[in-house]
Amino acid sequence: MASRNHNSYSTQLLQLFLSFMLAEVIISSNVAEEEILSKETFFERCRTASPGLRTGLTCEQLWAIFQRVFECPSSDCTPITDDSAYKEFVEQIPPTTPANRTLFYSGGTKVAAYNIGKKCIDKLTIQMTFLGQLFDDLKWCCVRNGSVDTQCSADDSCTSVTLNKFWTQASELFAKNATMHTAVILNGSGSAPPYREDSIFTTTEVPSLTSSVISMTAILVYENDQVKKRWTCSSPDSRLPDLHVALARKNIQYNCTDDYWYSSEQCSSANSLSMAIWMLPLILVIQKIIST
Ligand SMILES: *[C@@H]1O[C@H](CO)[C@@H](O)[C@H](O)[C@H]1NC(C)=O
Ligand SMILES: *[C@@H]1O[C@H](CO)[C@@H](O)[C@H](O)[C@H]1NC(C)=O
Ligand SMILES: *[C@@H]1O[C@H](CO)[C@@H](O)[C@H](O)[C@H]1NC(C)=O
Ligand SMILES: *[C@@H]1O[C@H](CO)[C@@H](O)[C@H](O)[C@H]1NC(C)=O
Ligand SMILES: *[C@@H]1O[C@H](CO)[C@@H](O)[C@H](O)[C@H]1NC(C)=O
Repeated sequence: MASRNHNSYSTQLLQLFLSFMLAEVIISSNVAEEEILSKETFFERCRTASPGLRTGLTCEQLWAIFQRVFECPSSDCTPITDDSAYKEFVEQIPPTTPANRTLFYSGGTKVAAYNIGKKCIDKLTIQMTFLGQLFDDLKWCCVRNGSVDTQCSADDSCTSVTLNKFWTQASELFAKNATMHTAVILNGSGSAPPYREDSIFTTTEVPSLTSSVISMTAILVYENDQVKKRWTCSSPDSRLPDLHVALARKNIQYNCTDDYWYSSEQCSSANSLSMAIWMLPLILVIQKIIST
């Protein structure tokens, strides 16, 4: 009797664990979805961000500035095209990093860069700053009568202009603030060259670097296996020589690594997801054994 009770408790415990792990997998695989910005999300993120708001403003004051700057320019969903509006807002909460800790990324490597920065090289992407934590994975078009116009937030042609302009202005400040030794995560498996001509990194960040930067290490990252090493540091068409030249003009040392270690589970993926994936079959097997 006692052993039967013990078994049913174990099964219950495992079922609980299993559902938790499943939830983890679902949450982790949805990270790329952009959610519509709402006042509630703004305040929740503003209050829980770490580092928090340090510029002497309160979340209420920041929201008031947001409402004013992003007020819809017309009765339809026309995007705000004036760069100075975006600039005015991002200057309230400039995304800054301490010396030696700035990490850029390009080519859809946002998640990999975040994890490599956190787990393996102790550097910070723009997502880790207050501004990044407040706006990452959110979309909006403009504010009408004090709240984000939800209809316009579903208008991709408006949100894409807004997000592009917003992140371009934020990235410019991020790059201007970089000092000492920096790094950039580039995609070594994409169809486009790692130093893509039209990326924000190429068009905005590299040109905004100042003489406070001493070096930049380019780190190429790859899909699941080394077979997908489409680009390496020495690929002739990678455009990496152009990066080298652009940096040399600013007296910034350039080096590059295509060591697969940076793409490994250990560096570039979030622990929870990889753990859940490995644990799932194991849990199912254990559960099967216990229930028979
Ligand atoms: C930045 O890194 C260099 C080289 O590792 C080191 O000499 C310097 O003290 C570091 N600066 C800060 C502020 O950590
Ligand atoms: C590299 O680019 C490919 C194709 O756009 C994308 O599927 C992949 O997620 C990117 N790799 C990394 C590590 O972000
Ligand atoms: C916004 O406010 C104005 C003036 O208070 C009002 O006339 C208008 O109907 C409101 N628009 C919406 C979409 O609520
Ligand atoms: C970067 O931002 C920090 C925080 O605002 C500031 O103290 C520092 O002077 C800035 N550095 C540069 C080079 O702009
Ligand atoms: C690149 O240069 C930086 C700074 O000088 C250094 O810390 C790093 O180890 C170098 N990386 C490679 C792959 O050579």
